[in-house]
Amino acid sequence: MKALVLSGGAGTRLRPITHTSAKQLVPVANKPVLFYGLESIAAAGITEVGVIVGDTAAEIEEAVGDGSKFGLEITYIPQDRPLGLAHAVLIARDFLGDDDFVMYLGDNFIVGGISELVDEFRVNRPAAQILLTHVPDPRSFGVAELDSEGQVIGLEEKPESPKSDLALVGVYLFTSVIHEAVRAIEPSWRGELEITHAIQHLIDLHADVHSTVIKGYWKDTGNVVDMLEVNRTVLETIEHRVDGEVDERSELVGRVVVEEGARVTGSRVVGPVIIGAGTVVSDSYVGPFTSVSENCRIQDSELEFSIVLRDSSIQGVGRIESSLIGRHVEVTPTVGMPTVHRLVLGDHSKVQIHS
Ligand code: DAU
Repeated sequence: MKALVLSGGAGTRLRPITHTSAKQLVPVANKPVLFYGLESIAAAGITEVGVIVGDTAAEIEEAVGDGSKFGLEITYIPQDRPLGLAHAVLIARDFLGDDDFVMYLGDNFIVGGISELVDEFRVNRPAAQILLTHVPDPRSFGVAELDSEGQVIGLEEKPESPKSDLALVGVYLFTSVIHEAVRAIEPSWRGELEITHAIQHLIDLHADVHSTVIKGYWKDTGNVVDMLEVNRTVLETIEHRVDGEVDERSELVGRVVVEEGARVTGSRVVGPVIIGAGTVVSDSYVGPFTSVSENCRIQDSELEFSIVLRDSSIQGVGRIESSLIGRHVEVTPTVGMPTVHRLVLGDHSKVQIHS
């Protein structure tokens, strides 16, 4: 069995972060979201992995390398344009051969891994196995309709009037029958070859399409709110560890990770929080569910429920909450009343805040 990981695409909902970097590399608890997926693939006993890459190929390849650090053998498959999930299967035909495979969307995050699912698929080998989960607003997902016995009878991609609240999760298992289906479909209204339509094609041919409704935690990290939520969930699981320096004027409360080379001075940090290597936190408050990446500077500021990417600095501003801050960002104050700020800042942004 092989894996096909989709790491191309545009990432429009995470702009401006994704103007300059791949959405699959945005870190969750200081580790790229894509790495969690690769780790679950390795844990499921799969070693041969094809990674679909687009405009951000160089960055993905630099981060993932040949896959050996995950125990994987990676083959990169370039996709000229993001022409759809089924298009990715089409161009991976040579890599996949006639093997069964798991297709994993590189911006999806699933707690609990995929090992059980892969084991079950290996035994039953339906034409396709899809994962579903109940969501409050299914309109931005593929949506499944089931009959009274739980059998999938129809799938629609981002419907205006969804027939159920069951969204397609971005992990799919296929036998080689899918190749015929991806060749048979036409592009959708958004100009993409939809995997949802290819699976519908299998249903129309009365092929065996299994579905599993997952109860565990799943998120598509395509937007900022979900990204912060995934970060919160992962931080819930960290263990307290201080490899950097914390001076006697500082207080760490709860589970806080201070990576090697990081320094905390005159500050209060209330976990769960992770402070990346080389980052300096001084005379500040860092509150729960915050991940600060490497080589940042947080000074005379308050930060909570946020993600800060590497090489950024926040100095002399009031409370920052629920924010995703890019790389090489500088946040500095203007004079005025303290207030709460909500920010989504791209790489290399410079912002002055009324603070
Ligand atoms: O997250 C689950 C949803 O993923 C499903 O419910 C939908 O049925 C499915 O179509 C997909 O919807 P999205 O619109 O969220 O997919 P997105 O364009 O974000 O692409 C998912 C991943 O695949 C992302 O990591 C980018 C990558 N990708 C996407 C396209 C369209 C590629 O590598 N190549 C592509 O051509």
